[in-house]
Amino acid sequence: MSRLDSFIRRLEAQRACLDRATELVRDLDGIVLELGLGNGRTYDHLRELFQGRDAPWRDIYVCERQVAAHPDCVPPADRLLLGDMFKTLPAAGFLIDRVALAHFDAGTGDDAANRSLAAGLRPLILPLLRGGGVLATQQEMTCPELTALPLPGGVADGRYHLYRRV
Ligand SMILES: C[S@@+](CC[C@H](N)C(=O)[O-])C[C@H]1O[C@@H](n2cnc3c(N)ncnc32)[C@H](O)[C@@H]1O
Repeated sequence: MSRLDSFIRRLEAQRACLDRATELVRDLDGIVLELGLGNGRTYDHLRELFQGRDAPWRDIYVCERQVAAHPDCVPPADRLLLGDMFKTLPAAGFLIDRVALAHFDAGTGDDAANRSLAAGLRPLILPLLRGGGVLATQQEMTCPELTALPLPGGVADGRYHLYRRV
């Protein structure tokens, strides 16, 4: 598969998983947490899903080390946890047990670094997720507190991950 095909499939998987995660939390109160703003593509999609016309409105908080998003996709200052997540997540006590849907997309093209980042941040993300809350993540985050969920049709195993907080 060409790198272009792989890139397209990754983005299709990401969108399909965010859409599925939205359905999965439909009956669960709670906020949305975007972990890794980047240029704001998935944040913008989450805004459509949770703050768009006819969407059931939810607060969206965003973590990012340094904002470099498209100008239309910069979160309001009071919804942005600016800085290294290893520092901002432990300091975000107000998020504990309040997140219905978290989306983790903080990686780079370096698989080993991504695995290490995910393993390091997982214990900081878990306490924020409500019981029954959903984590959508590009990196695997297997642990006893998270139950792996089936992926939407067309998304290859391992390309993206959906978990439910036990
Ligand atoms: C792949 S990009 C996110 C792409 C974004 N979801 C989108 O669709 O445009 C990853 C982002 O995570 C951020 N990031 C990575 N590690 C971080 C950390 N430890 N703390 C805060 N932000 C981090 C990077 O600065 C980068 O902007």
